[in-house]
Amino acid sequence: MSRIIAIDGPAAAGKGTLARRLAAELGFDYLDTGLIYRAVGMKLTRAGLDPNDPAQAEAAARALNPTELQAVDLRGDDAAQAASKVAVIPGVRSALLDFQRAFAGQPPGGKGAVLDGRDIGTVVCPGAGAKLFVTASVEKRAERRLKELQSRGVGAIHSAVLADMRERDERDSTRSAAPLKAATDAFVLDTSDLDADQAFAAALDYVKSKL
Ligand code: C5P
Repeated sequence: MSRIIAIDGPAAAGKGTLARRLAAELGFDYLDTGLIYRAVGMKLTRAGLDPNDPAQAEAAARALNPTELQAVDLRGDDAAQAASKVAVIPGVRSALLDFQRAFAGQPPGGKGAVLDGRDIGTVVCPGAGAKLFVTASVEKRAERRLKELQSRGVGAIHSAVLADMRERDERDSTRSAAPLKAATDAFVLDTSDLDADQAFAAALDYVKSKL
């Protein structure tokens, strides 16, 4: 598992940007595992089904096809909320485990894999060669998410984004199945006062020391 980089952390801490840059720098493949949960959540929502329903959610997860990860409506906050609802269901998590481990074990490009999510270092790839836990204060993360939404022309207000983020943090950290937490052997990177280049430099130094 040494050619695997596991990146975990809460929403909008900067892990996606970091994961993509590390993958590009090292020539590794990249899997955004949040997209998988979003795809399952939106599949149910679009069909008028309840993402909190364990049997329906597990069936949707088992039937997930990789092409569904390309759906255009997976980036929004509706998808994020639906994702964090299906993500508390143990049957959904175990259905998605094989998909993630297959990618980590045999990345399409063959050189190595970067996976980001909430439980990569703790559950999906506990033997990963490098583990990063990327975090930032909830206020900073809400600010970043607000800017990102505004840059996409989506109207949003800071207090609503902050409340949404707190709600999702709470659900992700307190669930009993694979809660969001740093692996004991993870390098914790707090990006509250770092820009993207500084965060990338710190992460790359750490990863190079491990792989
Ligand atoms: O990372 P992203 O914000 O796209 O993830 C959406 C939701 O999917 C998270 O809030 C979390 O509930 C869930 N998730 C998870 N485990 C992962 C990735 C995402 O539970 N490995």
